[in-house]
Amino acid sequence: MCGIIARVGSDNGVDELLNSLSNLDYRGYDSAGLAVVNGDIRPTVVKCEGSIEDLGTRIDGRLAGSVGIGHTRWSTHGPPTDENAHPHTCCDGRIAVVHNGIIENHESLRERLVAAGHRFDSETDTEVVPHLIETYLKRGCDPETAFRRAVGDLSGSYAIAALIGDDDTVYATRSGSPLVLGVGDDEYYLASDVPAFLEYTDRVVYLEDGQLLTVDPEGYRLTTFDGRTLDPSVETVNWDPEQAGKGAYDHFMLKEIYEQPHALRQAIKGRVDPGTNELSLEEFEEGAFADVSDVQFVGCGTSYHAALYGVHLCSNRGIPAAAYLASEYATSQPRISEDTLVVGVTQSGETADTLNALREADRAGARTLALTNVVGSTAARECDDALLIRAGPEIGVAATKTFSSQVVCLLLLAERLARDRGLDESSSDLFAALDALPDAVQRLLDETSARSIAERYSGANSFFFIGRNTCFTVALEGALKFKEITYEHAEGFAAGELKHGPLALVTPETPAIGVLDGPDREKTRHSLAEARARGAPVVAITCDPESVDDVADHVLEVPRTHLELAGVLANVQLQLLSYHAAAMLSRPIDKPRNLAKSVTVE
Ligand code: G6P
Repeated sequence: MCGIIARVGSDNGVDELLNSLSNLDYRGYDSAGLAVVNGDIRPTVVKCEGSIEDLGTRIDGRLAGSVGIGHTRWSTHGPPTDENAHPHTCCDGRIAVVHNGIIENHESLRERLVAAGHRFDSETDTEVVPHLIETYLKRGCDPETAFRRAVGDLSGSYAIAALIGDDDTVYATRSGSPLVLGVGDDEYYLASDVPAFLEYTDRVVYLEDGQLLTVDPEGYRLTTFDGRTLDPSVETVNWDPEQAGKGAYDHFMLKEIYEQPHALRQAIKGRVDPGTNELSLEEFEEGAFADVSDVQFVGCGTSYHAALYGVHLCSNRGIPAAAYLASEYATSQPRISEDTLVVGVTQSGETADTLNALREADRAGARTLALTNVVGSTAARECDDALLIRAGPEIGVAATKTFSSQVVCLLLLAERLARDRGLDESSSDLFAALDALPDAVQRLLDETSARSIAERYSGANSFFFIGRNTCFTVALEGALKFKEITYEHAEGFAAGELKHGPLALVTPETPAIGVLDGPDREKTRHSLAEARARGAPVVAITCDPESVDDVADHVLEVPRTHLELAGVLANVQLQLLSYHAAAMLSRPIDKPRNLAKSVTVE
């Protein structure tokens, strides 16, 4: 999804702007651009279709300016072209604007502006913004008022940053799209996401919808839309900039797969005590969920699969629960009472579909909770409660470590709910297994044979992933990961459903990958046998290789663990299988075609 960056300082900041854009490229983009104030009444704009390297080549060290804005574009209105790349300017080039989101009333605004004589250069919805600011400037407004009034004309979702004339000021606002200010020693940064500027500062102010920010080298001012000055708190982000880099790994995805032992340690740190079986989630008081009658999970993509896993974890404890694709939630009209807890499972905390579902739940009177990786994200701020998964920054588009951390935190949440509702607490085996999980993942990573299996089958026609219960949700996730990064056809099925249709697709060209260690493993074994009888090569993921001697061609072994955690370990093998298959096929693993890390439009 599009990324915004702005930088305000007193020395040349073009390299920092370019570097910050590169830090945002994980979000997915197809064109990029910059505008800097350089003493002229018109900011200098350089933009192009293609990569940030292409942009750097165009700039070729010839651009200088201490105040600037930049953008990576992920096309929505109009194809990726030089003209459609941001920043966009007004007729006389004095105003430059970058924007994330969608301006829903752009057609009527454009008609009005064209009728008033404005000339448009692009097909984007964004371009109405600089022309609107220009209109208000011509009517005699000062730059800040012109910006305020232009934004007041917009409907839709947006994060916007603008340069106006030769002012050393960046004007910015947001509504439904993220924007965060970075407060450095001598510079300020503004971005869609903290990793953009994390190497320059870890002190941040999260903007809220309807707030207006002006930043110049002397400082920043945050106001409400009607002009009231706010005194925002500056938070410190505890992400290490090192963590946001690729280190010695070929891809962020591989690095993040290997970071899972650490991420899982962070997820449980101080929260579970295997000795006493005590559970302490600092986010909630004990008994906080005593009145919860039922749980509804909402999420998208990988987070939806974690949500499905969460349903089983609740059901295992006698808590009524259901999971909804966030984009389907409103039209599904699930029954909600004030005792319903609606949990938004969202790594970024910014996914538009998930935010909309949470807002819908809030309107209907439910209590809401964000299960997220990002402190200060929109979901974390808007929900009644937030539970942080503490996975650290995840850059690869394909979610990996955040799935594992989400599942573990959903387990903690389910356990908290059960205890608060007076249901039996799980036996100490569970916390002992949780405690041992990071080491188990490490062992798996050290010993995996996923690469050789991936190499052997990477040319197959289709890949089928099967499992039951929690292992069915993992099969779905395994298939999603596989198709996202290999571009090969992959499907996840409930093992029991294989015989009700999908078996028609099974041939010697379609490997079947079975996730066995959940409940009813024997039945999954039978399903694998059915696939094998039709000639399919079979890969079994299990802690008990001997039990699949007669049905599996290959085994991806996982350490033995608690039944509720077996899916997490199996999923790590599936992540590795996808990764190595994609690497064999030379796919752009961290930035799969057409996909974005954070999808901030519906
Ligand atoms: C996008 C990403 C997926 C991710 C989904 C939900 O589609 O490509 O990897 O699972 O968004 O993201 P969230 O930040 O809400 O977990």
